[in-house]
Amino acid sequence: MKKMILASSNPHKLREFWEILGPLGCEVISQHEAGIDLEPEETGTTFEENSAIKAREIYKLAGCPVIADDSGLEVDALGGEPGVYSARYGGTRDDKAHNDLVISKLSGVPDEKRTARFVCAITYIDENGGEFHFLGRFEGRIGYREVGRNGFGYDPIFMVGDISSAEMTPDEKNAVSHRGKALRLLAEHIKNTESEENDA
Ligand code: IMP
Repeated sequence: MKKMILASSNPHKLREFWEILGPLGCEVISQHEAGIDLEPEETGTTFEENSAIKAREIYKLAGCPVIADDSGLEVDALGGEPGVYSARYGGTRDDKAHNDLVISKLSGVPDEKRTARFVCAITYIDENGGEFHFLGRFEGRIGYREVGRNGFGYDPIFMVGDISSAEMTPDEKNAVSHRGKALRLLAEHIKNTESEENDA
């Protein structure tokens, strides 16, 4: 099995990566399991930059391939906010406070201008130090109140048609989500490079 470290200690994310990369012969372990306690500062201004910062810092200590992701919500009527500040929007890490803030900032904004998207950037650094980037987007619009009990973060206010992403099952969400899309692009890359190595 090809070991790789996920630059995160979030068990939810670890499971999602395992589910897609495990069948390709990859053993994905968290940085915590790898004994790496570093939490690199996310000083970038884009999701891509932040995922690359995390991957590079962990790779320096890892001695094996590393995967890092960075994600968040972009609301068009707010000029792309909360963006890279999604996890700490309004100076808090509380999901309910984030959702209340977005809804109150959109007060009076009509349906057609409430467009938004989740974005996920993944950086993968392979065993030779080669760096690869994958991006997934999930388009929707911001609702008027929280609905649904699944998911996390901004899911209860993120509407896709008539339902929120907090009303989707995990499988339904993975099939269309930003993280699902970026992860499948990464899986495709790993599959292709493996088969090239086997052909050589
Ligand atoms: P990070 O990628 O772990 O830094 O996540 C950034 C923040 O973006 C999270 O704390 C959530 O607030 C938000 N976020 C990212 N992906 C999702 C999602 O799939 N649903 C809801 N919120 C999300």
